[in-house]
Amino acid sequence: MGKLHSRAYQALSSVYPELGLRPRLLHAADTAPDRVEYARDVLGYERGTGDYREVLADPDVDVVSICAPNMLHREIGVAAAEAGKPFWIEKPVGRDARDTAEVAEAARKAGVVTSIGFNYRHAPAVEHARELVADGSLGRITNLRAVFFTGYAAEPKGALSWRFKRELAGTGALGDLLSHVVDLVQYLVGPITEVSALTSTVYAERPILPMGSGTHFAVIEDGELAPVENDDYAATLVRFAPTAGGPGAVGTLEASRTIVGPQCGLGFELYGTDGSAAWDFERMNELRLCLGRSGPHQGYTTVLGNAHLGDYARFQPGPGIAMGYDDLKVVEARKFLTAVTGGERRNATIDDALAVAEVISAAEASAASGQWRPVPPVPGARFGGGGD
Ligand SMILES: NC(=O)c1ccc[n+]([C@@H]2O[C@H](COP(=O)([O-])OP(=O)(O)OC[C@H]3O[C@@H](n4cnc5c(N)ncnc54)[C@H](O)[C@@H]3O)[C@@H](O)[C@H]2O)c1
Repeated sequence: MGKLHSRAYQALSSVYPELGLRPRLLHAADTAPDRVEYARDVLGYERGTGDYREVLADPDVDVVSICAPNMLHREIGVAAAEAGKPFWIEKPVGRDARDTAEVAEAARKAGVVTSIGFNYRHAPAVEHARELVADGSLGRITNLRAVFFTGYAAEPKGALSWRFKRELAGTGALGDLLSHVVDLVQYLVGPITEVSALTSTVYAERPILPMGSGTHFAVIEDGELAPVENDDYAATLVRFAPTAGGPGAVGTLEASRTIVGPQCGLGFELYGTDGSAAWDFERMNELRLCLGRSGPHQGYTTVLGNAHLGDYARFQPGPGIAMGYDDLKVVEARKFLTAVTGGERRNATIDDALAVAEVISAAEASAASGQWRPVPPVPGARFGGGGD
C-alpha cells in the first residue's frame, strides 16, 4: 500500500493538472531496512528512516500516508494528528472500533483533514450507481447483496502474515474485507443500524511469515506452523436506517479470504422498487442496470465506462477503455489533497471509517453471542442514498 500511495501522489499532477499540486515524495519510514532503501532508490523518496516519528517531526512534510499494518494505525494515526499532519490512512483504521475512535478523537481535537483507503468508492461505475440511488432512479432500495470474495489465503500453505493474528490485525475477513463492503453499501445506500453475523475459520494453522517480508499472497512450503487467530469467512444480515421514502433496506453482506474461484470479487447488487444496479470489481468498468418495471427493455443492460461516470474522463479519452485498481488510488489522492488544500470535501473521513468499524465490531459481537446487535450512530459520518 505504501508503494501504491506513493505512485498515486506522483500521478496527481498529470491526471489533475488544474489542481496546481505537485506532490514531492520527501520522507519514507519502514522498520524493514530494505524497504526504506526501496522507497529511496526506486520510489524516489528524498529521505528514509526506520522510525515513523522522524517523518512526523520533519517540518518539510505537509501530509502523510499511513500504510502500516492495522495494529499500528491507532498509534501512528494519533501521533500524526498530534503532530498536526493531515493524514491518509489505510482501512480498517485499527483493529477494532475502539482503535478507530481514538484516531477519530485525536483528529477532531487537532482539526486535521483525514482520508481513508476505501478505494472502491471511486470506481466510476460505483459513483454512478450512487447517483442513481440518490436521484431516485432505482426507486426505494428494498434489499441488497454485497460480497468480497478473494482467494489471497485460499492456499493452505499461504503465509501467516500479520493479517491472521488477533493482536496485530484484529478480526480477519471481517475487518480486512467486509470493511470495504460495509463502506461501499453505506456510501451507496445509507447507514446500517443493526447486524447479525456468523464467522468461520477454514484453515486453523499456517506457516509463519516475518513482518516486512513478502506479502499476504506469499506461499511457504516448509515453514513453521502457528495458529490462525481470526475469521476466514464472515456473513451478515443487515438493516439500514429508514429513509424519507419508507422503511430502510435490508441485505446480506459476506466476505471470504479463502475462496477458490473469485479472485478480487468485491461486488454488490442493489434492488429498488423502480430498478436494480449490479457491479463487480473483477469487471470494474461495467455497470449492469435495469431501469423501470415495464417497457421493452426488461432485464439488465450493461453500461461501459464513459465520460459521464465519475472521474473516468481523467484517465481515458473514449468510452469502453478499462481503468484499473491503481487509478482508484489516484482519485483517492485527489480527494484527499483537495480537502487538505481547502477544496470540496469528497473524501472518506475518519468519521466514515468509524461508522464502518462500528458495524464490524457489532458483527463480531453478534457472531460471538448469536444475537442481533445495534450499531451506534457516528456523528459526522456521511452516507449515500439521497442525501449526505
Ligand atoms: N485499500 C485497500 O484496498 C488495501 C489493500 C491492501 C492493504 N490495505 C491496508 O494497508 C495496510 C498495509 O497492508 P499491506 O498489505 O501493505 O501490508 P504489508 O505487510 O505488505 O506492508 C506493511 C509495511 O509496514 C511496515 N511496518 C511494520 N511496522 C512498521 C512501523 N512500526 N513503522 C513503519 N513501518 C512499519 C512493514 O515492514 C511493511 O513494509 C493494512 O492496514 C491493510 O488493511 C488496504
